[in-house]
Amino acid sequence: MTLPLAILASGGGSNLQAIIDRIEEGKIAARITAVVSNKPQARALSRARAHGIPAIALPQDDYPDRAAYDAALLAAVQDSGAQAVVLAGYLRLLAPPFIAAFKNRILNIHPALLPSFPGLRVQAAAAAYGVTIAGATVHFVDEEMDNGPIVIQAAVPAGPDDDGESLAARILTLEHRIYPQAVAWLAAGRLAIAGRKTRLAPSSLPPADLALVSPCLVNPMLEEGF
Ligand code: GRF
Repeated sequence: MTLPLAILASGGGSNLQAIIDRIEEGKIAARITAVVSNKPQARALSRARAHGIPAIALPQDDYPDRAAYDAALLAAVQDSGAQAVVLAGYLRLLAPPFIAAFKNRILNIHPALLPSFPGLRVQAAAAAYGVTIAGATVHFVDEEMDNGPIVIQAAVPAGPDDDGESLAARILTLEHRIYPQAVAWLAAGRLAIAGRKTRLAPSSLPPADLALVSPCLVNPMLEEGF
């Protein structure tokens, strides 16, 4: 079984690239039906085209209001044949009808250890706050921002000399590990939501070698290949 999924992205698309790469390596049982961006110039779109993936630009200025935009976005994703949606740096809130259409089948990555630092520019906020541990969270998307059940989190050390940029770079390295892993679990049907919690069905895969990203903490543990 191969899960057809759409990826929404507004920016550079490095998380998109990490997911494409793991799919091409056969580590994620998914097929990307479309990459959709509200920013026509987003590098995410050119990354998609480079891999033969349909790239759809949907600039919000082309639509008279939010409702019209949201309907067009939902139509584009559904028409692509996607059965799940991955938000990879998508900087717009999804409308309730979109979330309802893909209930418990939308993942997001947030560059902070939720529920700390929801919202935007959170790496800079965490650095300014003086946290000593920062990180990233992959979670299911529900109607509230940065709120749904958590799938996986990764922590990195932070220090007094960090700023938003240095912290963002350290966190991004781990995003590229944990997001493909979470998508692989979703595609394999191993994620079950119970209330606020996500339960991961076990597998016999051996744990990943985390030496490359050490020191860090990732839980649940990454599996070989991620
Ligand atoms: C990542 O830090 C992600 O957590 C946040 O936006 C950034 C996207 O980076 N939501 P990229 O477009 O995947 O390179």
